[in-house]
Amino acid sequence: MKDNDTYDLSWDEWDELQRPAAATTDFDEVVEAAISRRGFLRGVVAYGSGAAVMGSGLLYGTSVDAQTVSRFGFTPIPIATDGTVHVPEGYTWQPVAKWGQPLFSDAEPFDPQNAVGVASSDRVFGENTDGMEAFVVGGRQVIAVNHEYVNTKINLPQNVDGVPTSADDVLTLQNMQGVTVMEVAEGPDGWDIVVDSDLNRRITHNTPMTLAGPAAGHPLVQTAADPAGTTALGTMNNCGAGKTPWGTYLTCEENFNGYFGSTDPEFERPEDYARYGIGLEGRYAYEKYDERFDISQNPNEPRRFGYIVEIDPSDPNSTPIKHTALGRFKHENAAAVIAPDGRVVVYMGDDERGEFMYKYVSNGVYTPGGPTSELLDDGQLYVAKFDNDLTGKWVALTPEATGMDEAEIAIFSRVAASKVGATTMDRPEWVAVNPVAAEGYCCLTNNRNRGIKSNAGGDPTPVNGPNPRAENNYGQIVRWYPSNDDHGSDTFTWDLYVMAGNPTVHDDKYGGSPNINEGNLFNSPDGMMFDSTGLLWIQTDGNDSNADGFAGMGNNQMLAGDPATGQIERFLTGPQGSEVTGLTWSADRRTMFVGIQHPDAPFPDGEGVLPRSTIIAVKRADNAPVG
Ligand code: FEO
Ligand code: CA
Ligand code: CA
Repeated sequence: MKDNDTYDLSWDEWDELQRPAAATTDFDEVVEAAISRRGFLRGVVAYGSGAAVMGSGLLYGTSVDAQTVSRFGFTPIPIATDGTVHVPEGYTWQPVAKWGQPLFSDAEPFDPQNAVGVASSDRVFGENTDGMEAFVVGGRQVIAVNHEYVNTKINLPQNVDGVPTSADDVLTLQNMQGVTVMEVAEGPDGWDIVVDSDLNRRITHNTPMTLAGPAAGHPLVQTAADPAGTTALGTMNNCGAGKTPWGTYLTCEENFNGYFGSTDPEFERPEDYARYGIGLEGRYAYEKYDERFDISQNPNEPRRFGYIVEIDPSDPNSTPIKHTALGRFKHENAAAVIAPDGRVVVYMGDDERGEFMYKYVSNGVYTPGGPTSELLDDGQLYVAKFDNDLTGKWVALTPEATGMDEAEIAIFSRVAASKVGATTMDRPEWVAVNPVAAEGYCCLTNNRNRGIKSNAGGDPTPVNGPNPRAENNYGQIVRWYPSNDDHGSDTFTWDLYVMAGNPTVHDDKYGGSPNINEGNLFNSPDGMMFDSTGLLWIQTDGNDSNADGFAGMGNNQMLAGDPATGQIERFLTGPQGSEVTGLTWSADRRTMFVGIQHPDAPFPDGEGVLPRSTIIAVKRADNAPVG
């Protein structure tokens, strides 16, 4: 990166730089929209900690005080602002896998000051742990986990300001991202990586993978190196994750746009680049040292990213598959569920301000032990449209509805969704499906542009039903109930499970929903998973200044929510500067694996050692199940 001022930008701030000229909505129109909404909101919502709860509700309706039985097996903990992890009394935590920790014995041990050399960079646990899932393979415990992006000042500590200056630097960064598949085992000293397990595998920005589905072979994805347009190299910016009913891992390509740039400053970008934020300069200088990422040389290369990728964790020699039928956007995660008729439904969010929520429904049905190879390649992509009367529909992105062919819908899914008038959302992050009730949840993490600016496609973003606050810096979780308890249905009703906020600072809608109180303050819900009992675990990636509107929220954290009562309690706090993201369980449910990403504090090894993104194991001291 030439301009070091961009180093600390979040991915969405960086996107704003790529698109400084996004249209603004007419302010009068916004105010009018907000006022016309107010009557609706007053009728069904009460804001703030002491507010009365309404029955018919947009917001979840049972007061916390009315609770008689708690579903939580822990005593909630206070906020923290320090450099380590905290869990409730009666629970313990320990690191399992840290950035740079060898997966194979031929890797150099992690150097506390100099980090990881290029030769070992694809033989160690990668950087920025994110979405993960656990599998059992032949009785062995395997974790597949994403490595979302890099922190170059930490990963290339020898370089001035962490700026990559050679092909080796770029290769080192490429190798630290992607996916790790690793066997883990619990011994007398706790959980650890099984070094040299034949199941261990690193998938990087250069691993060959198959392009499948409607976009495969299309001229828009053909390159000089792959004239057939069927074999892509690498998966990148792997954010959240998912798991198929047949035991494979789904990794989700999010901010792929940030890896491309042009060595020709005059290069005229194809029209479709704007919607996806593909600019002339990448974040990590890939385009200077690896021609594949130079859009002036390979203009189709960015269209080979932004997909859901399926990986078989039981076969380290298997070729990952990019399933283009599930659409191309900034995929956050993938929540798969089986509809009553056996069709596979995958819910997905597109994490950018004013982008959309999607679902995919297979044409074929899943039968245990039956064929699965077509299920994610032959189906229908839908986008969500929420109405203010608390109903909604999934609108099919068909050639008839969009005027685009199937390959174009797969490659330019955002454009297709805009054409059918999908509801602009406040940055859809993780989606989760309740295993014990027919309902889905999506974290709408925040959107400071709500009511201010259009999305990247020019769709206006006035406040709307599930996104009811302009300049939304706190976030909310929307919940939907598919008609007839059938996730394959194309209609639903919806409400808001929670609106984060700060009732100690605001007495209006920015104070949050009634299930927010001084004891559970948080902002920017992001990661989200249900445990097997139907408790909802919520992870945050927000403002951890603990000041002003965020006073009393502390470091990023993980909370548990009861879907039935709306009660939310804090379970874990992360080290200063970190995001808590990624959650899965051991097969016996006695261990919860939690991801701690990009700590600023020297976590977990202490002063004098570079900070390391880390998966931790959380257990009850009495070894009882934790979900
Ligand atoms: Fe990678 Fe949207 O979080
Ligand atoms: Ca996320
Ligand atoms: Ca986030």
